[in-house]
Amino acid sequence: MEKIKAISYGVGAVGGLIAKFLLEKEGIHVVGAIDVARDKVEKDLGEVLGLQRKVGVKISGSLKTVLSDVEADIAIHATSSFLKDTYPQIASIVEHSVNVVSTCEELSYPYMCEPKLAEKLDELAKKHDVTVVGTGINPGFLMDTLVITLTAACEKIEKIQATRIMNAGTRRLPFQKKIGAGLTVKEFQRKIEEKQITGHVGLEQSIAMIANALAWELDKIVVDSVEPVITKKPVESKDIKVHEGEVAGLRQKAKGIMKNKEAIVLDFQAYIGAEEEYDAITIEGVPNINQKIQPCVHGDIGTVAMIVNAIPKVINAPPGLFTMKDLPVPSATPEDMRKYIKKA
Ligand SMILES: NC(=O)c1ccc[n+]([C@@H]2O[C@H](COP(=O)([O-])OP(=O)(O)OC[C@H]3O[C@@H](n4cnc5c(N)ncnc54)[C@H](OP(=O)(O)O)[C@@H]3O)[C@@H](O)[C@H]2O)c1
Repeated sequence: MEKIKAISYGVGAVGGLIAKFLLEKEGIHVVGAIDVARDKVEKDLGEVLGLQRKVGVKISGSLKTVLSDVEADIAIHATSSFLKDTYPQIASIVEHSVNVVSTCEELSYPYMCEPKLAEKLDELAKKHDVTVVGTGINPGFLMDTLVITLTAACEKIEKIQATRIMNAGTRRLPFQKKIGAGLTVKEFQRKIEEKQITGHVGLEQSIAMIANALAWELDKIVVDSVEPVITKKPVESKDIKVHEGEVAGLRQKAKGIMKNKEAIVLDFQAYIGAEEEYDAITIEGVPNINQKIQPCVHGDIGTVAMIVNAIPKVINAPPGLFTMKDLPVPSATPEDMRKYIKKA
C-alpha cells in the first residue's frame, strides 16, 4: 500500500509540531504545506520547522497551488479556534476531496455555536466523499471524549466534574502570554476587554458533546468570565517573573445546567507556579468514579498525538462531519500508519 499523503495546513506553533512528528512517522508522507505567514511562504518546510535539513516541501500561501501539483489523502489543519474563521479554509480543502482533521476548537462540537456552518460542512463533506473531524487534547479528549468513555461504566449519573490544572511555567512563552502571566490585574482586565486574552476556547463544546452522548437535554450552558489567578508569592518561568499580587495565569469554569442543577462542571486552570498539576474527572453516580492523571497531560504533545492518531480513523470513517464521540475509541498509532487503514 502507498504511504498516506498528508498536507500541513497552518504551520504555526502547534501545526509545526504536528508537521515535525508527521515527518518522522512511518507510513505517512508530507506532500504539501500551506501557511499565510510572510516569513514562511516560499520557504522549505524543514527550514521553517527549524530542522537542520530541507525536506523538499515548499510552503505555499495557496491550497489550490499545492493541490494542482500533488494529490493528498488528508489535510492537517491548524490555523484558528473559531469556525467562522476556519470554515472557508476547511470548505476549500473538502471541495478538493481531501479529508480534514483540525485543531479548530469550535469544530470539536460545532452544532451548538455554529449549527448552520456544521450542517453546510456535513453536506459538503458528503458531496465530496470525505470526512471532517475537529480534535485535540482539550477540547477533543481530556474534558470530553475521556469523560464520555468513563461514563460507560456507570449505571446512573447524577453529576460530572472535570478539572484540568496545569503549571504554565513549563509551557512555551506565547502560551504564558496568552494566559496573561506577568500582568497586573488591571492590565489583565484591559486585555480581556480588548479580547487580547480570550481564555480557554472549547469548554462549551466539551459540555455539549458530553450532554449529547448521554442524551441529556441541558437547560443551558453557562461559561463564567475568565478570572485572573493572582499569585500570593513570587513565581517564575524561564522567561517571565511574576511578583506577589500579579497575574500568574487564568481560571475559567463552565457549567451545564439541567433541571436547575449543575449536571456537568468543567474547571480549567493554567498558571505559573501551580504546585499540583492534574487532570481529574469525578462522576457522581452508580458507581462513583474518580480518575486522576498526575501530572496533567502535556497540552502540546497531547494535541500532536490526538491529531496524528486520528488520521487513520478519519480516513476510515464514512463521509461527513463527525466529532470524537462518533469515531471508534481513540488509540495510539505506534506502528506504520498504513497498518491502521481499513482496505476498501
Ligand atoms: N483542540 C486543542 O486541544 C488545541 C490544542 C492546541 C491548539 N489548538 C488551536 O489550534 C490553532 C492553531 O494553534 P497554533 O498554536 O499553531 O496557532 P498559531 O501559532 O497562531 O499558528 C497558526 C498558523 O496558521 C497560519 N494561518 C492563519 N490563517 C491562515 C490561513 N487562512 N491559511 C493558512 N495559514 C493560516 C498563521 O499565520 P499568521 O501567523 O500569519 O496568522 C500561523 O502561521 C489555534 O486556534 C489553537 O487554539 C487547539
